[in-house]
Amino acid sequence: MPQRRSFVAGNWKLNGSLATNASLLEGIVAGAPWQACDVAVCPAYVHIPAAVARLSATTIGVGAQDVADVPAGAYTGEVSAAMLREAGCRYVIVGHSERRTLYGDTDAVVARKVTAATGAGLVPIVCVGETLAERDAGTTLAVVGRQLSAVIDGAGLGALSEAVIAYEPVWAIGTGRTATPDQADEVHRAIRALLARHDATMAGRLRIVYGGSVKSANAAELFARPDIDGGLIGGASLDAGEFLAICAAARRD
Ligand code: PGA
Repeated sequence: MPQRRSFVAGNWKLNGSLATNASLLEGIVAGAPWQACDVAVCPAYVHIPAAVARLSATTIGVGAQDVADVPAGAYTGEVSAAMLREAGCRYVIVGHSERRTLYGDTDAVVARKVTAATGAGLVPIVCVGETLAERDAGTTLAVVGRQLSAVIDGAGLGALSEAVIAYEPVWAIGTGRTATPDQADEVHRAIRALLARHDATMAGRLRIVYGGSVKSANAAELFARPDIDGGLIGGASLDAGEFLAICAAARRD
């Protein structure tokens, strides 16, 4: 089993201003823990250039929170993968549950966004996860399997080989209710097993991170599981001390 370097990304969502982002980034850069794993922050589109400029001398990457599923044309309001790459992004979140539920991103749209991202040289952070109703109905693994298979079928296995997968149970996002390490681990292992059926080497290398109410108080026990390779962090990523403590918990020597 290869030793995977952990990955921690902050999803800032629709938060921040140039001033608050600048002080958040100063707080993060001033700490040491981000140096021990791969770390990214994902601000709103218009805040990307300032984050790229501030972080250019560090190993912290910048990601976008979404991307157009087409390269160019008459798509008012959209931002393409090539534009994000040119702006200095290394990552892009694709298929976040808020995009799926609030903005109608279907499995097919998510697959096209993964294609667009990898085609432009971005690392997609591909989000999958079940709702509470789906978990209660016992369909968690079927739902996550469907979401992943749609990406494999639509974007190709090669597109996933450089991706990060984020398992984010919808019922745990922003609710303060985290999946237990056992619950998360079961899904992470199932995701890796599904991918291993296509390519065992790739599955062994791929980072699968957990998201959903991760904070410094619960990060260590989640990240202690061998198949949980870090986290996608919402609320707690808006606090430099919390975010750094989560990065420290993700460290693998
Ligand atoms: P949360 O958000 O950490 O605030 O639950 C996670 C996410 O939406 O990526």
